[in-house]
Amino acid sequence: MSLPKKVTLVEVSPRDGLQNESVFIPTEVKIQLIEQLAQTGLKHIELTSLVSPQWVPQLADHAEVIQKTKTFPGVDYSVLVPNEHGYQQALALNLKHIAVFTAASDTFCQKNINRTLAQSLIDYEQIVLDAKKRGLNVRGYVSCALGCPYEGKIEPKAVLEVSQALLEMGCDEISIGDTIGVGTVKDVQVLSELLVKHIDVHKLAVHFHDTYGQALANIYAALELGIHIIDASVAGLGGCPYAKGASGNVATEDVLYMLNGLGIETDVSMEKLLAADRFICEHLKRSSRSKMAIARE
Ligand code: HMG
Ligand code: MG
Repeated sequence: MSLPKKVTLVEVSPRDGLQNESVFIPTEVKIQLIEQLAQTGLKHIELTSLVSPQWVPQLADHAEVIQKTKTFPGVDYSVLVPNEHGYQQALALNLKHIAVFTAASDTFCQKNINRTLAQSLIDYEQIVLDAKKRGLNVRGYVSCALGCPYEGKIEPKAVLEVSQALLEMGCDEISIGDTIGVGTVKDVQVLSELLVKHIDVHKLAVHFHDTYGQALANIYAALELGIHIIDASVAGLGGCPYAKGASGNVATEDVLYMLNGLGIETDVSMEKLLAADRFICEHLKRSSRSKMAIARE
């Protein structure tokens, strides 16, 4: 199959990136990062998570971030919603884009959201049905799609089943997460071939962590199968506090460099992304994990 002509980048750094920092990033810094990202040409940005501050203290300021961040025409802001409590908050905050998150691994699901995989699907069904009635856009995450820190190898069939369950309840899009970044090209080919056979490719996104340096190659493998929604995180920030060994997401700048080289349209400005990278790295007092940013230092 020929490569997609256009790719949609979903920027997850304010959420996936900052949830994993050991120190609390001041709310004002989070807001400035999001506002910079919103002016790079990115159209989809994950702001934060409406999760328990006991579980993820780094995002305890979620309501303030949502209320105070400026909006920009054509830029969608989404938030993670783990349960009914978070969903009610999302409604109260008038959010139009939410993401529910479960996994292809039952053990990871329990460690991450304190519910079995089966229970998560039962609970999310009520949320997604209601959200769709209200006209919200709902993304569903399937974590540990290429391996689990607790269960090891995950069968592609398990990923397909959870994805289909989320789509059947009404999710608009499924993001397939390599939470700990263990997948290789062959794994991505096998999984993606199965997924695109059963699921509309326009509803599939990929979310790679770059723990073993495989993320760009894996993205290319997904592109070859027509998948054209890619999650990424500026400066390669990211990780999951409940997935030991999960390092940063693939860096948005590095994905953009590859897509530019392939002549694939994104509408995203490299220079503005690099400025956002410098901004957040300065605050974190460490260097970027983006190869592109390092090359330009
Ligand atoms: P729980 O302890 O089972 O919750 O946590 P509970 O229902 O038993 O309630 C206990 C207390 O928490 C109650 O308060 C609730 O009100 C409160 P109390 O009565 O004791 O005062 N509570 C909440 N407070 C704020 N927001 C809420 C909420 N829900 C209950 N939403 C819960 C269950 C889901 C809340 C918890 O497990 C949690 O917050 N987990 C979040 C984990 C997380 O954010 N992980 C990282 C994101 S996933 C990821 O990174 C992977 C991804 O990037 C894709 C990939 O890489 O694969 C998406
Ligand atoms: Mg992630």
